Amino acid sequence: MREINNIVILTGAGISAESGVATFRGPDGLWKGHRVEDVATPEAFQRHPILVQKFYDERRAKLQGVQPNPAHLALAQLDAAWGGDLLLVTQNVDDLHNRAGSKRLLHMHGELLSGLCLACGERSPVAGNLSDGPVCPHCRQSAMRPDIVWFGEMPYQMDRIESALSQCDLFVSIGTSGAVYPAAGFVRSARHYGALTLEMNLDPSDGSLYFNESRMGKAGELVPAWVDDILSSGTRFCDVMLKR
Ligand code: OAD
Repeated sequence: MREINNIVILTGAGISAESGVATFRGPDGLWKGHRVEDVATPEAFQRHPILVQKFYDERRAKLQGVQPNPAHLALAQLDAAWGGDLLLVTQNVDDLHNRAGSKRLLHMHGELLSGLCLACGERSPVAGNLSDGPVCPHCRQSAMRPDIVWFGEMPYQMDRIESALSQCDLFVSIGTSGAVYPAAGFVRSARHYGALTLEMNLDPSDGSLYFNESRMGKAGELVPAWVDDILSSGTRFCDVMLKR
């Protein structure tokens, strides 16, 4: 048993899979039909801006047809009830954690419902198609690109994430393959600072050996059960067992 006050949770595409949002690397994954270099790099956007805008326009439009699932809702419930520090870091660009009600939330890879001004760099809410060329509402001078962190770009708020990792007692990773850095390295940072580490995923992630415990299954089932456990203990003691 260990006292748990501060929690960092990392989520990836797997937490939204049961809502009907495609993952990246599964058999029907998003990257199957596209080369990453064609749609998810700054160079791709310079070469084929309309193609890239339409790729993200399509994904933005699909958000209207999906809903948060029990895993998103359970994490929002934990956020509301947990008295210690908690930071939910998502790699996902959908808005399902927001709609579920999570507040202590950080989108490290950007958001589909946001546009990034190509001139002034401000971020603005976007609901429709960026391929239609709406101008930035801040500077009113330039078009916007998707507010997505592409390969070769720095994820958002890394300082805040590193600081939270250095102070957390428990690091939990949900629905991510562990294939993309820097997120894939968070588990090692957390362990370095002395945190317990728990993974919940359909199958072992690339960094599975770094977790104290790995629970394999669907996020929609595993996450609500874990949240029930940690909240119903009534204390800040957690029985995540050290298996390694
Ligand atoms: P991936 O598609 O790489 O991995 C999704 C993980 O979720 C896999 O390990 C699956 O086994 C697991 N999974 C699938 N369904 C699940 C379910 N119902 N419950 C639990 N787990 C499930 O997606 P990410 O790891 O999020 O970056 O990918 C990381 C980054 O790579 C993305 O943010 C994106 C991508 O390139 C950018 O675009 C910058």
